[in-house]
Amino acid sequence: MASSNVVHAAFPKPLTEDASRSYTLPARYYTDPEIFELEKERIFFRTWQYVGHKSQVAKPGDYMTATIVDQGVFVIRGRDGALRAFYNVCQHRAHELLQGSGNVKAVITCPYHAWAYAPDGSLRSARNCEHVQGFDKSDFGLKPVRVEEFCNLVFVNLDEDAMPLAEQAPNLEASIRDFVLNYDDLVFTGTSTFGDDVMQAGWKVVVDNYVECYHCGPAHPAFADMIDMACYKHTIDGISAFQLGPDTKPENSAYDFKADDPIQRAAFWYLWPTTTINIVPGSVSVNITHIVPRSPTTTSFVNDRLVVAGEAEDEARNAYLFDLLGHEDQLLCESVQRGLMSNAYDQGRFIVGPEVDGQEEHVVHLFHHMVKQALDGA
Ligand code: FES
Ligand SMILES: [Fe+2]
Repeated sequence: MASSNVVHAAFPKPLTEDASRSYTLPARYYTDPEIFELEKERIFFRTWQYVGHKSQVAKPGDYMTATIVDQGVFVIRGRDGALRAFYNVCQHRAHELLQGSGNVKAVITCPYHAWAYAPDGSLRSARNCEHVQGFDKSDFGLKPVRVEEFCNLVFVNLDEDAMPLAEQAPNLEASIRDFVLNYDDLVFTGTSTFGDDVMQAGWKVVVDNYVECYHCGPAHPAFADMIDMACYKHTIDGISAFQLGPDTKPENSAYDFKADDPIQRAAFWYLWPTTTINIVPGSVSVNITHIVPRSPTTTSFVNDRLVVAGEAEDEARNAYLFDLLGHEDQLLCESVQRGLMSNAYDQGRFIVGPEVDGQEEHVVHLFHHMVKQALDGA
């Protein structure tokens, strides 16, 4: 731990609880591989990470894989209906077991030497193991990972002692359901990325950008034409935050929607540390946009779309979100990441007022403070 404390030392200027007096995280926190290593241990391996929608693992044997920075995991529905998660590594000589998503009929068979595991993680067979002295199959079961369904979404946590997500974010599900009345009818329909598959910006730059709309007027003219920025609102609630655009315009320069479409408002939820959920006007469609850190300075911002089963997607809206808006944000984030390498920048300030106003940076401050607390080991 001594080395961690050196890596994460006192800041030149204070990052305080009072946003109006606080400075931002120092630039080194966005560039230093040692900070990223500390974030793995103290943030990513201790928090709930989104994997997919429960409809993707509805039937016995259905599975989906995910990577938590450098830790492969998979989630699988057992024959008994229970959802389980495991590290995605064979206990023989460490080949990965499953790729992507799909369904295993009876056992999970390792592609390397065909050790076979039951969906409950127990080792069923290890070819030719009869003469291996002291070999006990029960010593080589898969290593389990915590898994939970929350708001019909599947999350995993590498910390076996983690507090359940529903306790950590007690109001989030009700907030989402208030906006999407037929939420239980939604199914997974496809994956896209905001911007390129991998953007040249670290995960914290991407979160910083998502949780404020101070930039929306200057940097997203079509978005600001559709959503009245003067009424934009922010709410902070524990480890989650919420942005609401209550006033929108059906004819605008982003994409058109109808005045009687079921979704008329724009709503953006953020769940510490890497999950975002959003809806924008038009037909019912929920975007689960999760931040996948690839390295200290690269990220994938991956979007799973949920729509009502059998309903067509709005291609014009998707084109606006993933091509135009996503690339606008990508360019912003990549420019910031380059700027954070500048010898002429270290810590900035948060633009905040006495209230949590929609065009301010209260949530960026919340996020920086949570990162600091997590790295402090708090
Ligand atoms: S590494 Fe999996 S069976 Fe050998
Ligand atoms: Fe943006």
